[in-house]
Amino acid sequence: MARVIVAGVAVVDFVFNVDDMPVRPEKYRAKDAMIVGGGCAANAAVAIARLGGDAVLAARLGEDQMADLILADLQRENVDIEFVHQAKGGCSSFSSIYVDAAGERQIMNFRGSGLTRETDWLEEVPQADAILADNRWPDGAAKMMEIARKRGIPGIIDGEDPIDLESLTNASHVAFSRQGLVALTGENDLAKALKMLESNLPSWLCVTDGLAGVYFLQNGKIEHIPAFKVDVKDTLGAGDIWHGAFALCLAEGAAEPDAIEFANAAAAIKCTQYGGRSGCPDRLTTKIFLKEITQCS
Ligand SMILES: Nc1ncnc2c1ncn2[C@@H]1O[C@H](COP(=O)(O)OP(=O)(O)OP(=O)(O)O)[C@@H](O)[C@H]1O
Ligand SMILES: [Mg+2]
Repeated sequence: MARVIVAGVAVVDFVFNVDDMPVRPEKYRAKDAMIVGGGCAANAAVAIARLGGDAVLAARLGEDQMADLILADLQRENVDIEFVHQAKGGCSSFSSIYVDAAGERQIMNFRGSGLTRETDWLEEVPQADAILADNRWPDGAAKMMEIARKRGIPGIIDGEDPIDLESLTNASHVAFSRQGLVALTGENDLAKALKMLESNLPSWLCVTDGLAGVYFLQNGKIEHIPAFKVDVKDTLGAGDIWHGAFALCLAEGAAEPDAIEFANAAAAIKCTQYGGRSGCPDRLTTKIFLKEITQCS
């Protein structure tokens, strides 16, 4: 079984379904509510575990009730949490999310406080076949990419806005989101934006563009792999699931275009269900989806 270490953010979201967005300082009643685990790295780790990989999460939490909730959920998903750092007196990150009848979201995010700024502990991560890092903690991401390079394994960055170029220098692969790439380059044409970075970064580069699929640079040429058309119910966490699936395929030795195809499938299936990462499919479901789609085309 291929092992992927995923470094970055793990959070918990308190989601309230309301008729109208709260705008006044008074008491409101929710129609429905749920507690959903989230965070780029945690979502990707869940995807890797569900898709048949060995997922080790390297995240920073506090020693609080939120951390208990986050960790219990990850354990249920078979994510290895031995390597999660819990800072004494620290507060873990959580969000309160209102979703109105039209599906619009209002998010109040607390990024946590008192979390460790040290990166030395990351040196001790176990042997693995790939490392994936989100860039919400640039120093941590940079350290993880340094470790991947030293160990000679793929080091993949999920390039979300804002991007610190330092954290990308040792990455073998950077998979940007549209927002991340446009913010970094100031260029709205994604193909041009990738080309702009080609000479500045030594890494293999791609960008995910939601329903428009994925653009990537292969031998100096821009290539495109479309997303799968599905009945979309919820895109929350699609990018994280995509990155988890992509990293797992690289860890297993797949070529990048095949990894993109597989990740597009896993993310598309996720979009067909409500509930963020809880809609992430397992390996068999993803394989059957790909087989049926190929047979139909
Ligand atoms: N509506 C959709 N239908 C089918 N596939 C989708 C859809 N939205 C996303 N995907 C798949 O998921 C991949 C990643 O999505 P996207 O580019 O939106 O990530 P993102 O911008 O990082 O967003 P986030 O991390 O907030 O989910 C896409 O390249 C595509 O393969
Ligand atoms: Mg994303």
